[in-house]
Amino acid sequence: MIKKYVYGTPFPTEAVVKDIEASDDKLSFFETDDKGSFTYTFAEDDIVYGLGEQIRGINKRGWQYVSWNYDNPNHHEDARSLYGSHNFIIISGKQTFGAFFDYAGEIEFDIGYTKRSEMKITPKTSDLIVYIITGDNEKDIVKQFRGLIGRSYIPPFWAFGYGQSRWGYKNEQEIRDVAQQHKAAGIPLDSIYLDIDYMERYKDFTVDSELFPNLEKLAEDMKAQGIYLVPIIDAGVKIEDGYDVYEEGVRDNYFCKNAEGDDFVGAVWPGKVHFPDFLNPEARKWFGNKYSVLTSLGIEGFWNDMNEPAIFYTEDRLKDTCAKIEKLTSENMGINEFFEFTGMVAGLNGNKGDYDKFYHNVNGRMVKHSDVHNLYGMNMTRSAFEALREICPEKRTLFFSRSSYIGAHRYGGIWQGDNKSWWSHILQSMQQLPALNMAGFLFTGSDTGGFGCDTTEDLMMRWLQYSLFTPLFRNHSALGTRGQELYRFGNKGAAAEIVKIRYCLIPYLYSEYLKAALNDEMIFKPLAFDFPEDEMAKQVDDQLLLGNELMIAPIYKQNAFGRYVYLPEEMLLVRMKSCENITTEVLPKGHHYVDIPLDELVFFIRKNKAIPFGKAVEHTAAIDKNTLRLLGYPDCLYELYSDDGYSPVPDNSLNISML
Ligand code: GLC
Repeated sequence: MIKKYVYGTPFPTEAVVKDIEASDDKLSFFETDDKGSFTYTFAEDDIVYGLGEQIRGINKRGWQYVSWNYDNPNHHEDARSLYGSHNFIIISGKQTFGAFFDYAGEIEFDIGYTKRSEMKITPKTSDLIVYIITGDNEKDIVKQFRGLIGRSYIPPFWAFGYGQSRWGYKNEQEIRDVAQQHKAAGIPLDSIYLDIDYMERYKDFTVDSELFPNLEKLAEDMKAQGIYLVPIIDAGVKIEDGYDVYEEGVRDNYFCKNAEGDDFVGAVWPGKVHFPDFLNPEARKWFGNKYSVLTSLGIEGFWNDMNEPAIFYTEDRLKDTCAKIEKLTSENMGINEFFEFTGMVAGLNGNKGDYDKFYHNVNGRMVKHSDVHNLYGMNMTRSAFEALREICPEKRTLFFSRSSYIGAHRYGGIWQGDNKSWWSHILQSMQQLPALNMAGFLFTGSDTGGFGCDTTEDLMMRWLQYSLFTPLFRNHSALGTRGQELYRFGNKGAAAEIVKIRYCLIPYLYSEYLKAALNDEMIFKPLAFDFPEDEMAKQVDDQLLLGNELMIAPIYKQNAFGRYVYLPEEMLLVRMKSCENITTEVLPKGHHYVDIPLDELVFFIRKNKAIPFGKAVEHTAAIDKNTLRLLGYPDCLYELYSDDGYSPVPDNSLNISML
């Protein structure tokens, strides 16, 4: 059962698609106070699941989280905000229920941080809608919630292939080389990503004619090899006379305004930019239609970036800072002044105060950005999704975004934002997956190998062994870091085998994805969701159930060649060195130490289950559904969802066959 409680005058976030009547009962489970907080008193063993893209474990107890979409590439354990805001939680324990705090601005979730036994949720203002969901168990609560927020985005089949990305691919020749090197090393590949360098001076919907003289031909040649090009689109529009997107946006008032009514200026990659007002339906439509500049060149996928929106600095803050620095440096700088100086410089980027300085036009009403901040990225992806549904209605387009709010899951996927080549970021990504799935985000994954910092071969191998299970499987790295294309490593053969195994698993992963999207279910679940009576399962936060058949327990520690795994039931341990070199062993319920060499993939098939398993191929187009074999317990069947992987999927799609 879902109950809706309305407080004040909430901004319509459009996260929810079902119209529910507001309840006049007293809010259950939470106490409210005159500061607008919602307080829940924990029982000792209560677990809190959810919050989507956030730091720390699967159980969110013991930290303070702040929903405020934030460009935070250096996140450690002490971060409070990341790129997305997903305000849905499930409290599981003495009382089990779900709660969604539908609020477009900043909202704090103090989950046992100030007081271990208490959760206090505090929005910036008291204008929000709270949904309380009760049900039979966690999975039932998730299903009801997902029904409320609408069906998850379904990408094209090719988007399940392996993708290679790097910020710094400079020109057409480099892209061709990347494709060729993958082929030469026998590494399957379905997509190459174009980062900001393909554009002319980082201007959206332009192509640098010197570096990429014929993008259409490049896209065509790549497609002939089974590879799709996926360009990036950034939120900020460069201020430059003669640039059509800038000039049209100014002319038609499609950019966010400052308090004086002028177009607001921030600085991002292109230098000074205006931000399209994605909350204004006309501006959304206008920007969305611009994607056709690239689809007309044969592009079928996009990643939307910098859409928190990230702001490196604003002019007035930079001016103030420079003036203060001048004053500080003209005097004899003491240690306190030194720290003030470094703090001021660091505080320019993503400064919260800057988000108070611009406005959206919502049906003629000027709305301060910070009150609706968390909706910006979602509406950027929406603008592309809605426009492309009209421009090319016959097919699915790949979309994923950096920033998001619940509701964005209907328009595209998300990647988990900038991470680092750190071992801890493998685990962090894995721990976000169930929470993201709860919030509707099924098409997701991390920058495999790590975006910032230098990767190493062993880190990459372990990351691949985890990421090959995530729907979005993309190797991405930052400018200036060590190159991490798989063909650069010593044992590239082993990396190629791991990627090939992904391709053998795609029929299964795609089938589970579609079933989860169509039935409002999760792909990745904490163990306790399927084994609610098992006290041990509740504590496991480095293993996940995948679909209805698998359990994964990846390695995320340097120089670990094995790990402890908890089996909540008897399972089949599967070891793969390649798609053909497979051994299996039945392991009883309980704790096991499992050896996992660097060049071997290990996962588990649940008792009396089997999965479809294909042949190693070079790209998704070569996957043959007619040659699938079953891998798992003998005499078990699998319900396979399959379709053309290309046409939009109707809600009642029933392309299921028994295998
Ligand atoms: C941002 C993105 C990253 C991209 C870079 C350059 O940091 O998150 O993925 O490579 O910008 O465009």
